[in-house]
Amino acid sequence: MEGAAEEPATASATKEQLGLSKRAQKKLMKQKMYDVKKAEKKAEKKEKKKLHKERMQKDWEAKLSKVASEEEKMKFIESRRALRKARMDKRAQEREDKIQRLTQAKLHGQNIVIDLEFGHLMNPTEVNSLVQQIMYCYAVNGRCSSPGHLWLTGCEGNIDSYLNRLPGFNKWIIEKESRSYIEALKDQKESLIYLTADAETILEDLDPKKLYIIGGLVDRNRWKGITMKKAQEQGIQTAKLPIGNYLKMSSSQVLTVNQVVEILLKFLELRDWKTAFFQVIPQRKRCGAQGENGNELEGEAIEGCENLL
Ligand SMILES: C[S@@+](CC[C@H](N)C(=O)[O-])C[C@H]1O[C@@H](n2cnc3c(N)ncnc32)[C@H](O)[C@@H]1O
Repeated sequence: MEGAAEEPATASATKEQLGLSKRAQKKLMKQKMYDVKKAEKKAEKKEKKKLHKERMQKDWEAKLSKVASEEEKMKFIESRRALRKARMDKRAQEREDKIQRLTQAKLHGQNIVIDLEFGHLMNPTEVNSLVQQIMYCYAVNGRCSSPGHLWLTGCEGNIDSYLNRLPGFNKWIIEKESRSYIEALKDQKESLIYLTADAETILEDLDPKKLYIIGGLVDRNRWKGITMKKAQEQGIQTAKLPIGNYLKMSSSQVLTVNQVVEILLKFLELRDWKTAFFQVIPQRKRCGAQGENGNELEGEAIEGCENLL
């Protein structure tokens, strides 16, 4: 990927274009451009980090130079060390607590399955976006006081390799299955509920004994109805989120994977669909939505997610 940045996209593409259809050439070119942009962004971020570190070091040296005696200097250094240690201890404790919560969820938490069998229907940018959404779901879940237990089923091919590139992915406390959910969870088929905006049944509550499946798809609804069709063919129950009972959407009620996961997690915490929707669904996706006291409520929890979608 780094190499792609050094080689002009057009030149390398020309070599590989031989023998490819027009569509494949276009796809290849798009991928090259994407790789170049990604490498540029990475380099930019690295440079920013380096500059920040240098600035901090300079600030510190300037502060230290203003201290008159050696004794005071040592005190100053010691207090900085103690602060750093306290910060690191706090982080380690938070990590430990998170591991505890996720381990507990493995035993008693609500099972939420992300169905990753749609890799072949997405382009590399969409796969990348899906992987970012999954990463976001894992982070949000880890911060919950009582998290759910996440499953990634049908985890193979390009999605699997993208996921494996995420730092620390091999340590995630999840169920990662290369098999499809229908195979991996065949003993619990009756308990599977595929969540899909096209379902007739409205999800009223979350049942801890059920396993809720979310379609791992970023498709701008190009594959309309695909999860509904799949669940029907497999004889699995389906349900849609009760969005229509609480708010009006400016377009369709089809949400992204991370939004659905976050709504489920919020509902588990609050047992209140309305608050869950208002906190997770971005304002731009709602229309004329009013809060209980007539004020428009802000969608705050999705912050930082905009660039993942
Ligand atoms: C971006 S959507 C994929 C849309 C896709 N065309 C389909 O047919 O499912 C990602 C997934 O989120 C879940 N989802 C999105 N909106 C939903 C809703 N309103 N109710 C229930 N599940 C929803 C579904 O599992 C869906 O597959």
